[in-house]
Amino acid sequence: MDIASTPADSEANMQVADAAPPPQAPPVIHREDYLPPAWLVPQIALDFALGVDETHVTSRLSVQRNPDGNGSDVLRLNGDQIAPLAVRVDGEAINDWRLDGPDLLIELHGDAHAIEIETLIKPIANSQLMGLYASNGMLCTQCEAEGFRRITFFPDRPDVLSVYSVRMAGDKAAFPILLSNGNCTAQGDGENGTHWAEWQDPWPKPSYLFALVAGDLVANSAAFTTRSGRKVALNIWVRPGDESRTQHALDSLIASMKWDEEAFGREYDLDLFNVVAVSDFNMGAMENKGLNIFNTRYVLAEPDTATDADYDAIEGVIGHEYFHNWSGNRITCRDWFQLSLKEGFTVLRDQLFSADMGSEPVKRIEDVRVLRSAQFPEDSGPLAHPIRPDSYQEISNFYTATVYNKGAEVIRMMRTMAGPERFRKGTDLYFERHDGEAATCEDFIKAIEEGAGLDLAQFRLWYSQAGTPQVQVRMVHEDNGVTLTASQAVPSTPGQAMKQPMPIPLRIALFDRETSSHDGERLIVLDKASDSFRFEGYAKAPVLSVNRGFSAPIALDVERPVDDLVFLAANDDDPFARYEAMQSLVVRHLIAAVSGNMGAASLAAERNAVKRAFAAVLDDVALDDLMRGELLMLPPVSYLAEQLLVADPSALYEAREDLKAWLGRELSASLRTLHDRVSAVPYSRDAGARGARKCKAQALIYIAAADPAEGARRADTQYWAADNMTDRQSALSVLCGLDVAERQQALDDFHKRYAGNALVIDKWFALQAGSTHPLVLDHIRDLALHPDFTMSNPNRVRALYMTAALNPKAFHDVGGEGYRTIGELIRRLDPINPQTAARFVPALGRWRRIESERAHLMKAELEKIAAAPDLSRDVREQVTKSLG
Ligand code: ARG
Ligand code: ZN
Repeated sequence: MDIASTPADSEANMQVADAAPPPQAPPVIHREDYLPPAWLVPQIALDFALGVDETHVTSRLSVQRNPDGNGSDVLRLNGDQIAPLAVRVDGEAINDWRLDGPDLLIELHGDAHAIEIETLIKPIANSQLMGLYASNGMLCTQCEAEGFRRITFFPDRPDVLSVYSVRMAGDKAAFPILLSNGNCTAQGDGENGTHWAEWQDPWPKPSYLFALVAGDLVANSAAFTTRSGRKVALNIWVRPGDESRTQHALDSLIASMKWDEEAFGREYDLDLFNVVAVSDFNMGAMENKGLNIFNTRYVLAEPDTATDADYDAIEGVIGHEYFHNWSGNRITCRDWFQLSLKEGFTVLRDQLFSADMGSEPVKRIEDVRVLRSAQFPEDSGPLAHPIRPDSYQEISNFYTATVYNKGAEVIRMMRTMAGPERFRKGTDLYFERHDGEAATCEDFIKAIEEGAGLDLAQFRLWYSQAGTPQVQVRMVHEDNGVTLTASQAVPSTPGQAMKQPMPIPLRIALFDRETSSHDGERLIVLDKASDSFRFEGYAKAPVLSVNRGFSAPIALDVERPVDDLVFLAANDDDPFARYEAMQSLVVRHLIAAVSGNMGAASLAAERNAVKRAFAAVLDDVALDDLMRGELLMLPPVSYLAEQLLVADPSALYEAREDLKAWLGRELSASLRTLHDRVSAVPYSRDAGARGARKCKAQALIYIAAADPAEGARRADTQYWAADNMTDRQSALSVLCGLDVAERQQALDDFHKRYAGNALVIDKWFALQAGSTHPLVLDHIRDLALHPDFTMSNPNRVRALYMTAALNPKAFHDVGGEGYRTIGELIRRLDPINPQTAARFVPALGRWRRIESERAHLMKAELEKIAAAPDLSRDVREQVTKSLG
């Protein structure tokens, strides 16, 4: 068969190379180069002869010249590691097709043709887990973003929408269940123990939403009736034996369907909704039309195996994927630069859903914690990009905290400025206007502008500028009033040296010190580099509460006396602001402690202020335990490091540990009382009992830091008495950090107790890799050699190595062992699963913000990776940018 001849066809849509690419550099794809497709594919019929070793695919496309295209006669069908066995045009076999790299090009002269292509794929050999692959003997697909081209040749871009019909046949014993998108229209038995099924999806969709599953599965089923009376059959499909762990996912699905009708007026549009849990999966889950495919970790839960956090994550991800049915499927993306159109919006939708299902304030705090610990570092590092990127080499690298979480924050700001009712008018208009289309972020902004009545002209900068705005706020009290002076600076990021000021909505309140109350919340919008805001009628200087509810995703610098922070930590009626005041107290104290620029007396005074705030949280009877547990958490080292231009992670880590131990000693009586009180609360899934478990975990952490022997005793008792995973895990987590005899006993028990339960064995790996134990690096090395460890399962790889990369004690070990461990992992994993390997690069990519000795070692690891032969496009892009 022919090898690549590069034709000079003009329809090289978005595949534009930079002027003089270095030898191995993959092409850079630019947003501005978007061209509509030259050919459309209104219909596709797929026929699969299924096998784990080999699957034969016949694809029949009806193609039509796009009236809005460039008129090219060349039909470009993307491929990736596949070869055409046969190509037919209008029923005739042809052999004048060409390959352009991985793509198949066919010249067509009329306006409409029938194309038929056969391919043979090897699911068992697909270790990348993109396209059609085998997992535990079952077959499943992952097509977003560019996996469909690993199954058959197709214009694999989200603006080509087709109606799919699928036929599949395979061994009935190996694959008793055969699923695809839409509805099952026919099924029957074939010869030699085979059977077959036909599926049809009436809704046109892009190829990334195609899905197929074949395997031995059982369902937990229910029915849901939509607002307009459509009866929908719901199934959560899992491997036999896992049925007992599916009820929470099913309940969450029903709750999601109901919530989307009420909160966004969105109803489901098929008679069937299937969710399948798969144990080998690169990401969390995938919103394929009518057939969501999930990582098992976001489906399976029962009290003995899943923590409260696991339950919450399942509810959130089930919601997320369900909500994509409108924000993603009915309205999809024109091109992958628009990814935040569906992801940012859908994250906001899942956040609002989870807030409504549980505690709104706690959910907000959790979301902000994720943003600050994952997205802020991304935004201040070499991989910073706007929520709507301008270019990429490998789109998989752009499924980031920026596109997802900052994307959600940007839309949340629109909602804050418009208010929920007007925002809803905007989303209604968006859904109505663009239903059935492949849309852009600009389309979304316009719909919100018109529907909600906002002027978002300047606000669009949030889509194009990367970097976390640094906002300074100062308050001056004079003449019976206050003047707030606010200024903003958006830092330079790669490719974006100069930035313009953006509109920053700040919710503020001015507290009266005596009455501990305020005269109403206000919204101010800072849209200039610097501005001032005047408020009259304050005889005495009030206490300023600003960026309440985290109304804007910014880094805030407010000069405030420690006493004001203590006041807000105790009195602010905005729960987020209360949390924020405590975090600020801790952050400024720890930063002062490591920078050594504060005298001992001031340092001690600040530390006492932190203690007073924590004591108030421990003793406040009006506080619910979920919030109490939240307020007791110390900020992670990654967020502390963000405060410094160049950080010594060990110094931050030690200062944080010291503070933990000191608070544990100073507040020992209250902490023990708390631990005793919450330990007596019996297990249930209600908020009170979940709050009790959260406080139990936090109290234990401080007690163990202050008094390891007492901590070990309490943790050991808690471990063996536990009747649920939350308590068992929080106890084992504390034991893991201690050099005590109880540690190994509990670890051995945990491993034996849960042998064969992959998700819980993941926890066993993660608890050890994330520990504060002095020998944590030795433990990580031994775990990599443990018979339960495997490089072929992403969950297991992440449990060991992502946990290690996020553990400052292990990763930033002074000798560089942590960096070498992650560097070697990347090199070994890249040939197996490049997408997952690339996710580890950003940890090393932080080197410029780390003290020079370590920075040197981190950079050396990146250079070693860069020098490896045959690097994937995924890892190459991340490493090159991190070194650049
Ligand atoms: N759309 C999926 C979600 O957000 C994620 C798919 C990511 N796939 C990938 N290959 N990066 O729910
Ligand atoms: Zn998503």
